[in-house]
Order: sequence, then structure tokens, then C-alpha cells
Amino acid sequence: MENIAGKKALVTGGARGLGKATAIALAKEGVHVAITGRREEQLKLTVKELQDLGVTATYAVFDISDLTSVQQGIEQLNHSFGKFDIVINNAGIASFGSLLDMDADMWTSIIQTNVLGSYYVTKAILPQLIEKNEGDIIFVSSTAGLNGAATTSAYSASKFAVIGMADSLMREVRKHNIRVCTLMPSTIASDMSKELGLTDGNPESVLQPEDFAELIIANLKLPRRAMLKSASLWSTNPS
Ligand SMILES: NC(=O)c1ccc[n+]([C@@H]2O[C@H](COP(=O)([O-])OP(=O)(O)OC[C@H]3O[C@@H](n4cnc5c(N)ncnc54)[C@H](OP(=O)(O)O)[C@@H]3O)[C@@H](O)[C@H]2O)c1
Repeated sequence: MENIAGKKALVTGGARGLGKATAIALAKEGVHVAITGRREEQLKLTVKELQDLGVTATYAVFDISDLTSVQQGIEQLNHSFGKFDIVINNAGIASFGSLLDMDADMWTSIIQTNVLGSYYVTKAILPQLIEKNEGDIIFVSSTAGLNGAATTSAYSASKFAVIGMADSLMREVRKHNIRVCTLMPSTIASDMSKELGLTDGNPESVLQPEDFAELIIANLKLPRRAMLKSASLWSTNPS
């Protein structure tokens, strides 16, 4: 098993939902964590929780759908926090509706955030992982990235794309000892699933963010050699 204590991780969208649970789980393993998002207040509160767990923690405010903003944010974190070992591409948005009903701007925004956002963050950090000849990049797709549904054209298009990007990247960078993995959870209790009306308030009916975080940690601890050469896709709680 890999020892992850002392490593440095970036968790995008780390102030709430799956990202926050992942950041906390990483900190409990002794991983130093930087989190990002657009809302500074939430980021500050989560950083305090992470610091209370005894690790170094910090945040950067930036919009992942904007390349310049991502480059500046990562540069700022490299300066204040250091170079990264682990990247969790978690931040994302969702909105459901028929193809005809959904506003073209919303469609674009989902692709811009979920696909290009993950690409921008990965592009900004990949050179430092290659330089270290080691690293882990985890993408958060969805079961909506495996199968479409009647109202998920934009979201599914974005999450299918994430799987394609990650699978290609896995093949591209394994020679640099960099593992790339994609998780494809079904519904998990969070603000997003609540806003989409996917949860019924019964905590037993869906996964909790902490369950998802456990999978991320388990994945990071898997033997490196086997993971470099095997399939990079993990689906949880398929619907
Ligand atoms: N919950 C589910 O049922 C479920 C199932 C499958 C996959 N997923 C995926 O899991 C990931 C996390 O979902 P969640 O349920 O935790 O969602 P959430 O509660 O809505 O949290 C999303 C996070 O992403 C950040 N974010 C969104 N747009 C951003 C942008 N343009 N720039 C920077 N940060 C941005 C948000 O921070 P700010 O608002 O501060 O920017 C927030 O911290 C997403 O990729 C989602 O698609 C979720």
C-alpha cells in the first residue's frame, strides 16, 4: 500500500460536498491540502477545519472555467503552499432539462466548468508532477458519464468527456509514474443533489460524501505499479 502522509494535495471545489469530505479525509491521513472555489467565506471555514486536524492547509479563490484565473490561482498556491503530488479534479456544476428547454448559455457553462475546468487545472499542475516523476490525478465524473438520461444532455456530455480526457491522459502520463483515475459516483447527498431534487432526505438511500472520500483515499493507497497498468475507471453505486 502507498503511504500518502506528508504529500500535498489540491482539491478543487473543496469547501463543500464531496470536495470538502475528500479534503477532510486527506487531512486525517496526514496529507497537506489546498482547496479552491469561488466563495472565499466557505473556503476559509474549511481551511480552519483542516488546520485543526494538524496539517498545513490553505485556499485560493478562482473560477476553474477561466484559464487565466486558474493559472494565476495555481501559481499563487505553488508560491505559498508548494508543488503538488495529488490533484482531485472535483469542482463541477449540474443543471438538468430537455435539450430544447435548456438555455444555450447554461449548456456552455456546464461544458466550460466540468470539462475545460478540469483540463485547465490539470494542465497547470501536470508539469510539476512530471518533474517529480510521481503523482496522482483523480477526476470526478458520474454515472451520468456512462449513460445518458432524458434530461441530462449537457451534464452527461460533460461527464462522458471527462472520462475520455482522463483515460487518454492515463495512457499519456503513466511513463512518468503518474496515476490517473476517474470516479463515477451515482447520487451522493450534497447541495448539488439536493438542488437537483435527487435526494429524499433519507441518509440511507444514497451515498454520503464521506463514503465517496473513503473511495478516494483507498484509491490513492493502492499499489502504484498495478494502478499504472490497469484500467483507470471506478464506478460507485451504479444506478
Ligand atoms: N452529488 C452527487 O450526487 C454527484 C454525483 C456524481 C458526480 N458528482 C460530481 O461530484 C463533484 C462534486 O459535486 P458536489 O455534489 O459536491 O457538488 P456541490 O456541493 O455543488 O459542490 C461543487 C463545488 O464545486 C465548486 N465549483 C463549481 N463551479 C466552480 C467554478 N466555476 N470554479 C471553481 N469552483 C467551482 C463549488 O465551489 P464555489 O461554489 O465556491 O465555486 C463547490 O465547492 C461534481 O463534479 C459533480 O458533478 C456529484
